[in-house]
Amino acid sequence: MAVQNAMTADFLRSAYGGESMAHMRYLIWADVADKEKMPNIGRLFRAIAYAEYAHADNHFRELKEQKGDFTVPAGAIFGIGNTVENLQGGIDGELHEIEQMYPVYLETARFQNEKGAERAFHYALEAEKVHATLFKAAQDVARQGKDMDINDVHVCNVCGHTTTDGLPDQCPICGAKKEAYKIFAA
Ligand SMILES: [Fe+2]
Ligand SMILES: [Fe+2]
Repeated sequence: MAVQNAMTADFLRSAYGGESMAHMRYLIWADVADKEKMPNIGRLFRAIAYAEYAHADNHFRELKEQKGDFTVPAGAIFGIGNTVENLQGGIDGELHEIEQMYPVYLETARFQNEKGAERAFHYALEAEKVHATLFKAAQDVARQGKDMDINDVHVCNVCGHTTTDGLPDQCPICGAKKEAYKIFAA
């Protein structure tokens, strides 16, 4: 069902903008990690960039009937530093989404009985929690001048759930089957 309420539509557009920019800067920071001889952290950035694409895709689809040209205000972290600094940018952005943005957007969608937006915001909120944890783990090893010791990274193309612990039978966030996972192979 199409989005009915202007506030939820605004939040979907803003979240789409935020996720789109997160997608792009993680790809840029992935290239920095590769240059610093941290290819596994580069791969983690690319996998999480794909998860942010999945979030942007969900938000965009919820708005499919709201056609037109909009100016979209959205928070975005800027700057290119070394990988330790870039990971801090990742952590800061994810924590903003986890602690401020998505809880408010989710409550608004619930209040306005916007089921599709509620699902899209719920998926993003839960996936971003995992992203913050993964970026912190990456930063701990990058601080020692080392690359992360990780195997394949799996990303659910429905909700953006991201894991380095092997392919799940079922997505713990959205319940999708394992075939929904995109593999960023080691
Ligand atoms: Fe994220
Ligand atoms: Fe999922």
